[in-house]
Amino acid sequence: MSSSQFSSLLLPPVFAPQLRRLSFLQSHFGANGTLRNSCSPLLRAKESSLRSMATDENIVGSVRQQLAKLFEESLRVTVPEELDVDPLIAPCQNAKFGDYQCNNAMSLWSKIKGKGTQFRGPQPIGQAIMKNLPASEMIDSCSIAGAGFVNVVLSRQWIAESIQKMLTDGIETWSPRLPVKRAIVDFSSPNIAKEMHVGHLRSTIIGDTLARMLEYSNVEVLRRNHVGDWGTQFGMLIEHLFDAFPHGEVSDQAIGDLETFYKASKQRFDSDPPFKERAQRAVVSLQAGDERYRNAWAQICEISRRGFERVYERLGVHLEEKGESFYNPYIPGTLKLLDEKKLIQESEGARVIVIEGKNIPFIVVKRDGGYNYASTDLSALWYRLNEEKAEWIIYVTDVGQREHFEMLFTAAKLAGWLPAEDNKYPKASHVGFGLVLGEDGKRFRTRSTETVKLVDLLDEAKNRCKAALIERGKDKEWSEEELDKTAEAVGYGAVKYADLKNNRTTNYTFSFDQMLNDKGNTAVYLLYAHARICSIIRKSGKDIDELIKTGTLDLAHPDERVLGLHLLQFAEKVEEACNNLLPNVVCEYLYNLSEDFTRFYTNCQVVGSAEETSRLLLCEATARVMRMCFHLLGITPVYKI
Ligand code: ARG
Repeated sequence: MSSSQFSSLLLPPVFAPQLRRLSFLQSHFGANGTLRNSCSPLLRAKESSLRSMATDENIVGSVRQQLAKLFEESLRVTVPEELDVDPLIAPCQNAKFGDYQCNNAMSLWSKIKGKGTQFRGPQPIGQAIMKNLPASEMIDSCSIAGAGFVNVVLSRQWIAESIQKMLTDGIETWSPRLPVKRAIVDFSSPNIAKEMHVGHLRSTIIGDTLARMLEYSNVEVLRRNHVGDWGTQFGMLIEHLFDAFPHGEVSDQAIGDLETFYKASKQRFDSDPPFKERAQRAVVSLQAGDERYRNAWAQICEISRRGFERVYERLGVHLEEKGESFYNPYIPGTLKLLDEKKLIQESEGARVIVIEGKNIPFIVVKRDGGYNYASTDLSALWYRLNEEKAEWIIYVTDVGQREHFEMLFTAAKLAGWLPAEDNKYPKASHVGFGLVLGEDGKRFRTRSTETVKLVDLLDEAKNRCKAALIERGKDKEWSEEELDKTAEAVGYGAVKYADLKNNRTTNYTFSFDQMLNDKGNTAVYLLYAHARICSIIRKSGKDIDELIKTGTLDLAHPDERVLGLHLLQFAEKVEEACNNLLPNVVCEYLYNLSEDFTRFYTNCQVVGSAEETSRLLLCEATARVMRMCFHLLGITPVYKI
């Protein structure tokens, strides 16, 4: 946790760093397998033009949502006296019974029995629900099982047509609908003058994916970098800076490694009393807005920022910085609001909010009158709800900060800023993740340094991938640029996927050997699977865009139907991943998709068969859904291997 400590002195808002858009470079490959380098504005323009094809009318919603609509109508007719019954629709556990089931009968029965109902148990309710379903092309047949469960077999024709429609209208039309319009994802958020560690890497990767999933689901996302850019540590940093550069000739090169600079100043602070005194006075000057101190502070922040940006650029992650210092001017007002609600009390000289069930209170003003991490987060939360009008605020940090966020959210509920019920909006969620462990099972670190430098880590992943490609003779087939871009896509993709595929709350073991394995559930395997599908299409010699316009998709073989249904379930998996803030749901979906594809490809001949056109369309649809999964996971796809 940031140890930033705040002073009660007010800062003018101009002191806050500008909201910064970090430009990012992302390279990717063209559909024909050639390399194309597109910088972010282009890429984003392209994405947004794609997005604009998904209008409110042509977004179909997930299969589950579409079925829910049908069952909602039936429920209204079946039990008109029960208003607002949410249809309970789930995929069937056993494919023998059908594809989906409606589970409302049992709970309806317990609600209406004894109230003079005509029904004699859950079974007849299920029968009636089934009978009252409006006619729909979606459904092939229905049956009743057990205590009134209505099993649904989807129409093969409808599945095929839905996939074909996606091929024509774009995969954006498959995006799920979520109940919020604007969300904030607070992620990455490293601390100034300190190295970004692997914990921040996890936050960056997980946060970026959550933002991408929400963006795909038509939510406007504010990607917030809540950097630790304020606190008493700046006193010693500034004084050390003044001593090292008395004439103000500061530059990145001159400072060198900020972490070392930080350590040197900390060492002086701890061992040199006059220096310590100067540092403490510097904090006061900084907080009073003294220009010389403000400039030095800004310089240190800027050098740090450039280091962070290098990592974001590599990862293709986009963030907007609103650091801790931004909220400083809002703290007194926020505390006043809480005070008016009688939530703040004195405790041992500090000012605190007592939270029921917690052993320690939430300290909002320290004993010396200074503000802290909690006061800033209270102001940031107030600002996000009231000024930015966010309906969902998501914080991505290690699980070690769970207690802090529990207290923060409870305080906001007590203040009436957030509803007391967790299922209502606006909502705040803490997305906690576990530690990164080394292969020895201990906290991940390298031999040379205590913390792992993120840039080195990414370099190593890329270099290992490049070596593997050269070993396979790709250096003879490809240009140096192609080799480099592929190694980057696979290497960085592997680092991201290894992190995302785990349930985020567990610790995860960082192992290059495991993540770069081309077999099993790894990005390497999945990227290769995608490239193989592209090569099937290329080798057919057919123009796929032409086939999309003129051909028809049929899912006659059972393995084709299984694959087709899996494709169609993409939207509800994204919906589930968003609702539970679990990126691993998308990873699991992607891995299963590649398995379903392998089964199909093993059992159904594509090129040269009578069903060639239909099967090529199924290959193309699979490749597109895989690419959207990669996009959501922040992984650049490769088109040939
Ligand atoms: N800077 C903090 C850290 O490194 C993370 C900040 C998370 N966001 C927040 N609003 N508290 O631990």
